[in-house]
Amino acid sequence: MSRTPRRTTRRAFLSTALRAGGLLAAPALGRPALSWTSRTAPPRSSAPRAVQAPYNGCGLTPAWGLNTYYAFGVEGFDEAMLLAAAQAMLDGGLWQAGYDLIVIDDGWASFDRDADGNLQADPQKFPDGIGATVERLHALGFAAGIYGDMGTQTCQNRPGSYQSEQRDAQWFAAQGFDHVKMDWCTAEAFDARERYTLMSQAIAATGRPISFAVCNWGRQNPWEWAPPIANSARTTSDLSGIYEGDALDRYYGSYQWSCMLKNLDGNQHPGAAGPGYANDPDCLQTGNGFFTSELEEVAQLQLWAVMSAPMVLGFDVRGASDRTLRLLTHPALQAVNRDPLARQGKRVNAEHGREVWVKPLTDGTSYAVVLFNRTDSASTATLTWNDLWGVRSAYVRDLWNWTEIGTQRSGWSTSLQPHESRLLQIAPLS
Ligand code: GLA
Repeated sequence: MSRTPRRTTRRAFLSTALRAGGLLAAPALGRPALSWTSRTAPPRSSAPRAVQAPYNGCGLTPAWGLNTYYAFGVEGFDEAMLLAAAQAMLDGGLWQAGYDLIVIDDGWASFDRDADGNLQADPQKFPDGIGATVERLHALGFAAGIYGDMGTQTCQNRPGSYQSEQRDAQWFAAQGFDHVKMDWCTAEAFDARERYTLMSQAIAATGRPISFAVCNWGRQNPWEWAPPIANSARTTSDLSGIYEGDALDRYYGSYQWSCMLKNLDGNQHPGAAGPGYANDPDCLQTGNGFFTSELEEVAQLQLWAVMSAPMVLGFDVRGASDRTLRLLTHPALQAVNRDPLARQGKRVNAEHGREVWVKPLTDGTSYAVVLFNRTDSASTATLTWNDLWGVRSAYVRDLWNWTEIGTQRSGWSTSLQPHESRLLQIAPLS
């Protein structure tokens, strides 16, 4: 059933795609469309663009960016490093590929509030105040995100926002933040829907368009209540546990792979996702060296793309290798992950550890499909058009390798190495 795909250049690929015309409209490849924040008007005015969307107008498609916790830990960052990381993202093409948000995670704050009761940044890390850092990130074209906690303390013992929600939301807005992530340490006894709704309202009351990320690790089923009050919610525990204090070697090799599978499996709530809300299975591993092969890195990238998950970099981008940059900036990731329909792909088959994921695309005629072998042995994955869409033929394109596989009768199959995946675009025909 399978044909050897014809190799082609990106340019030839695109022109073939265009010639295919209405048959299989190519997703927007190349420089990504801006969906949730302005990248064109630094400085300061780079507030999220006012767009028509459910709830707060933010996060029409998933957020892409860097998170300091996964990249640098709790103590390993300061303003100079963040600005250098932002510059490296520009120089390496990450910003251009869509990673335009820098989230300053736990460790940014002093251990005490100031005399007025406001949060305050650690002066060692942010000597000019964190508002100045936000301004500098905006000037480079980045959106800026901040971390807080719904309990009395953050996971790293900084002050939490419990009963200071309005004050803290106002303070985050006054510093110019475009994105707020709220964690759940010391809050586990509370009603999550109630606490997060309060924070969401407090943020909305600031009048500043700020995307809101719930981070309560899937506790109390956030996918059931977060879509009308937040732009994303974490569905699982952390993917990368390297900063949680256990022995480092526990976090290398297959442990990291199992962690990824755990978060993949825990993120299956596609009915909740759409423009303005994404389920968040946590950070990407590409670049941090935890996976044992490029196949594993590519598999996670393709799976996160088909799930329309936030794409959160968790490594020191200042040292990104060409190989890492090549993977992370692959245009198919943006085209699939940020397809404006914003539907989360569903796992429609998982027999023998060979998975088939299907995500409808905006063109209304085609689907992004990921074939994925999660097992440790090579195998053959087969797609059958009749089972998937009740048709006898379909047009197939390999989005990762830039090949037109073409019209295939009855189905298509391919061999997959252990942990290998394939990202396809398929249009059912008749
Ligand atoms: C929790 C969150 C992480 C990170 C850390 C910071 O573990 O799930 O994403 O924010 O806290 O301490």
